[in-house]
Amino acid sequence: MSLQSIKYTRGSLEILDQLLLPVQSKYLPVRGVEDGWKVINKMQVRGAPAIAIVGCLSLAVEIHPEEFDSKKSLRQELEGKLNYLVSARPTAVNMKMAADELLSLANDLTKDDNVDVAAMKQRFLNATEAMLKKDIADNRAIGAHGAKAILQLVAAAAGAPMSGPVRVLTHCNTGSLATAGYGTALGVVRQLSELGKLEHVYCTETRPYNQGARLTAYELVHEKFPATLVLDSMVAALLRAKNVAAVVVGADRVAANGDTANKIGTYQIAVVAKHHGVPFFVAAPLTSIDLHIPSGDHIIIEERPDREMTHVGEHRIAAPGINCWNPAFDVTPASLITGIITERGVFQPAQLKETITKLLET
Ligand code: MRU
Repeated sequence: MSLQSIKYTRGSLEILDQLLLPVQSKYLPVRGVEDGWKVINKMQVRGAPAIAIVGCLSLAVEIHPEEFDSKKSLRQELEGKLNYLVSARPTAVNMKMAADELLSLANDLTKDDNVDVAAMKQRFLNATEAMLKKDIADNRAIGAHGAKAILQLVAAAAGAPMSGPVRVLTHCNTGSLATAGYGTALGVVRQLSELGKLEHVYCTETRPYNQGARLTAYELVHEKFPATLVLDSMVAALLRAKNVAAVVVGADRVAANGDTANKIGTYQIAVVAKHHGVPFFVAAPLTSIDLHIPSGDHIIIEERPDREMTHVGEHRIAAPGINCWNPAFDVTPASLITGIITERGVFQPAQLKETITKLLET
């Protein structure tokens, strides 16, 4: 069984506290929006899709027992609380996308005379709960498209009809813990394994929060995948020495031109991959793609407390008094990205906006 970061039944939500992993596996109750905001902000749940799902489900749990005297008051509560949830972390776009979609549903239902306030609440709960299933289905599709693209590239480069098992590198955590299940970039790895085409997966430590060492390594060991942990500073040496076929990472926000914000360190891996001629893929659902911003220059990069850099747990590792700069994400320019793997196919970064706009029209 794969790991489950989110446990939900109507009226009840629990998340696996990712701050305690891999040492302790403990679920935390999320009783409403205030708790939802806190667990996202403190990174007890993290990863762009999981942030959005937990945020929205925390609102579902909060309104479930409430009664509203009018559709207008329900709509007002939804709007205020969704906006609040969006403010918990600024870089990943998924929570904002989900909030916009749910608010547009609330607006439509408010105007619909055939829907009373009880039915409106019900429809809102249904829409929120549907996110869990959709995310897993999307991730499976991302996995299938991504594995196929990597295997095709490898086969083409070798002039062979079919690729043998491949070695891949991933960064940060994009697996079951970062999503409703299956994972995005880790979903591609999972799919390679299901096809019998995963020779080896390397995961980076992902300083300073160590999502790779703590969470991805935990998932890879749990799945019994052939896997090795490397430090972030080893990526160039790894690509030179280990015949890695592709890099595949997740995304927190992809701009219309394909520039991609993802966990700090992603950009330097892309530069190193380009130098070594290793294809570099971004795997993300369409809800991570923000066509409203023309380029990565418009993405707000979250800066996190110095303590994440100066300490490991309670143990100080940096000289007291030193200044720190701790951006949680960086932006990889589209020119370094081979393809953006989504649930609807693999897109060229340069044609991203055009392709998605056409796709959404059909
Ligand atoms: O700060 P985090 O741990 O929330 O950052 C997570 C990442 O950067 C992931 O790569 C991204 O959200 C995609 S998760 C499917």
